[in-house]
Order: sequence, then structure tokens, then C-alpha cells
Amino acid sequence: MQEVAYVNGVFCPMDQAKVSINDRGFQYGDSIYEVIAAYAGRPFQLEAHLDRLRASLEALSIPLDLSTLKIESVIREGLRRCGFEEAMAYIQISRGEAPRSHIPPADIKPTIVMTFRALPPVPAALRKHGASIMTAPEIRWAKCYIKATTLLPNVLTRMQARAAGFHDAIFVADGGDVREGTSSNVALVRGGRLLFPCRDQSILHGVTLLTVTECAAHLDIPWDERPVNVRELLTADEVFLTSTTEEVLPVTRIDGNPIGDGDVGPITRRMMETYADLTRGRGVFESRLRHSA
Ligand code: PDD
Repeated sequence: MQEVAYVNGVFCPMDQAKVSINDRGFQYGDSIYEVIAAYAGRPFQLEAHLDRLRASLEALSIPLDLSTLKIESVIREGLRRCGFEEAMAYIQISRGEAPRSHIPPADIKPTIVMTFRALPPVPAALRKHGASIMTAPEIRWAKCYIKATTLLPNVLTRMQARAAGFHDAIFVADGGDVREGTSSNVALVRGGRLLFPCRDQSILHGVTLLTVTECAAHLDIPWDERPVNVRELLTADEVFLTSTTEEVLPVTRIDGNPIGDGDVGPITRRMMETYADLTRGRGVFESRLRHSA
């Protein structure tokens, strides 16, 4: 088992992978990305991730045809080469390499980088007791639905949270609208129903959250998608975060105050278990998202 990289058509060991300092990803953050988890070597919700990658490419007007690139076979080959039982494929596509100028040359070719490494396990204590997180002002831009690599506000906010002893932070906009975590979506449980903020331009449309709605349908748990105020967050019965890498992660404290009774709640627990069963192929139900075709 080894970490593997792929740069513009060529696989290589991770420490030999290189891109130019003139790459617009490095110079401007003019790039987008995806993170896909793989269980038993099979990429989970691959189509949904590739659909979002296409939407991000389109939003940046980067002309790249993923099928010409045979991206599915490249991902499967990278997973095969790295050989980890549970792996993480990271795909980063920048507009390409060119002398620094805001307007790129017309003939610029996208840079395509992928890495394949082990999916880091979420610490058991976090799953058992839930995470303590904080709320943070929404300092990001207006098009957070694009999975852009310009993550400076997310990075600064996550570092601030860690330095203050929290696992993570949830962005809250002026006026109190709850948005999402620094690298996750947020879901609440109130009165036996799931509730999460609208998947509009202000948050990333998470593939994990989409999968959670399928789990909710399977478990007969109703859900609502509407604007969520920070007061509703702080007085929720349960809160959890969702992401490809942290899956369903309970949150038991926010800004120092307990959520519900301060323990991982029953709906979060069922959701966490159902999601884990689905990803590890323990056959609870078939995802309509055709996750491992
Ligand atoms: N982040 N919101 C943000 C800002 C994210 O960065 C992510 C994922 C999500 C959840 O999306 P998904 O369920 O499709 O993973 C929501 C990835 C894991 C990362 O940056 O590593």
C-alpha cells in the first residue's frame, strides 16, 4: 500500500509529483476540487461527485471534458495502485499554467492532479462523545456552492477554532442564518425531524448530505430544507456534521453549551450507523445515486 499521485496523465509516487509555480491554482487559487471516499476499493457516490466537478468546471468556464479524460478509469486505477482498503481520492483541476496575468491565454490547458491515500479514520472518541464546535462569522464569498480551492476563509476559521479548543466551526451569516462547517454541511434534529439550511449558492451541496436524505427516507425520518437561524441551532435536540471524510459526525457542544442533553442523540446515532453500513456495503438499502457502479 502506498500513496499515489497522478499529474496530467502520469501516475507517480506522491513525493515525485510536481506542478509549476506558474500554475494558476498556486498563483490565484484559480482551481476547483473534489474529495471522494472509497470503501473496499470502490469509489462511493462517484457519479454525484463527478456531476459536482462538472458543475464547478462550468462555473469557472474551464473547458475540460471529463469523459475524454476517462476520469472514472483514472480514479479506479489510482485506487487500485494505492491499495488502501478505505481510501480518499483528491482531484484538483486548475485552469492551467501560464505567466502570471489575471486574464489567462486562450490556449491554456487545465492542470489535473489527483492523489490517492488512506481515508483517515475519525477518532472513536469523537464519534462516541460528539464534537465540541463554535459558531463563526460568515467571512467567505457569495458563491460557496462552487467547490473552489480558494479556501483561505475556511482554513483561517478552522485554525481559529482549533486554537480555541474546538473541533470545528459553523459559519453564521449576518442576521443569524446558519450556513455550514468549514469543510462539512450541518444538519439539526428538532422535534424528531431533520432540518438543514437551503442548498442555494451560499453553501456547498454536499454529496454526504444528499446521501443522508436517502438514509432519512429509509429510516422514515422526515426532513425540511429551509433557512435555519442560529437560535434554532443552539436549541436543537441534536446537531451533526456531514462530509465525505468525517461521514456523519455528532456535535454535542456549540460555543461551550450542550446540545440537547450533551450526548450523541438517537437520530444522529441511527444516521451515523446507517451511513456507515451503506458505505461499507452492509446492504441496508440501495442508494439511488448509484455509488459504486
Ligand atoms: N469538504 N461544505 C464544505 C465547505 C466542504 O468543504 C465539504 C467537503 C462539504 C461536504 O461535502 P461532501 O459531503 O460532498 O464531502 C460541505 C471535503 C471533504 C474537503 O475539503 O476535504
